[in-house]
Amino acid sequence: MYNPFSLEGKTILVTGASSGIGRQCAIDCSKMGAKVVAIARNKERLAESLSMMEGDNACYSYDLQLIEGIKDLIDRIVSENGKLDGFIHAAGIEVTNPLKLTSHGDYENLYRVNCLSSFEIVKNLCGIKTFNKGGAIVLISSISGIIARKGLSAYAASKGALLSAARVMAMEMAPRGVRVNTVSPGTILTPMMQKALDEMQEDDRIKRVVGFPLGLGQTTDISNACVYLLSDASRWVTGQNLIVDGGFTAQ
Ligand SMILES: NC(=O)c1ccc[n+]([C@@H]2O[C@H](COP(=O)([O-])OP(=O)(O)OC[C@H]3O[C@@H](n4cnc5c(N)ncnc54)[C@H](O)[C@@H]3O)[C@@H](O)[C@H]2O)c1
Repeated sequence: MYNPFSLEGKTILVTGASSGIGRQCAIDCSKMGAKVVAIARNKERLAESLSMMEGDNACYSYDLQLIEGIKDLIDRIVSENGKLDGFIHAAGIEVTNPLKLTSHGDYENLYRVNCLSSFEIVKNLCGIKTFNKGGAIVLISSISGIIARKGLSAYAASKGALLSAARVMAMEMAPRGVRVNTVSPGTILTPMMQKALDEMQEDDRIKRVVGFPLGLGQTTDISNACVYLLSDASRWVTGQNLIVDGGFTAQ
């Protein structure tokens, strides 16, 4: 059957696969025919994700704060699973704090998980011996990387860094036919977002929810965008940021 969005025959690495958007991406990539290699910290929740996927997949428990160990992790993943064709970086943390209460440590933690770990993965994964020609990378950024929301300076900076780095990676990898794009979600109801909504003042929570013309998003809204960007349907799309936000930033 003709399906330009198929991921049949591809092996795709997904970080943050134990929860929310990353878990949905892992499940949907497997349903589209890919072998998924899932990374997250929590072994039990990773095993739960694995049980929701289709086909033969693999998982690795790893704390992405530990940037220095990423090279060894990638070497192990490639030696046990063969060359890869795709990478989705969905692991992420959010800290909401006014600037004057944001510490150096907050910036460091956010940068390590949200962007530096993905740069290190791309650097070690995308060589000729480890990543197939025609492969694709999707880094999950956020509309917070583009618009201002009070209390999110450190988070927004980490997400903005993904947007600019991805454009440069796209240029550096284009000669090898490897594409690099970002997806910027609006508010998606996941454990991370539920926690953030719970911590907001009532007024802010209502404002956040009613601000989306199409209402809040679902994890499948983001996983579908990732499937497109990993599939051959997007073979001529690179260096782009796909905003998936129910119309929020169009206002
Ligand atoms: N939910 C939203 O509304 C929303 C909006 C915009 C962007 N995003 C982004 O989407 C991504 C996924 O968010 P989510 O809402 O699904 O969050 P989530 O909290 O449900 O999942 C986050 C995942 O990241 C993993 N993770 C966190 N720290 C890690 C570490 N040190 N090492 C390894 N894994 C780690 C967790 O294990 C988990 O699997 C994040 O990058 C987030 O910034 C989410």
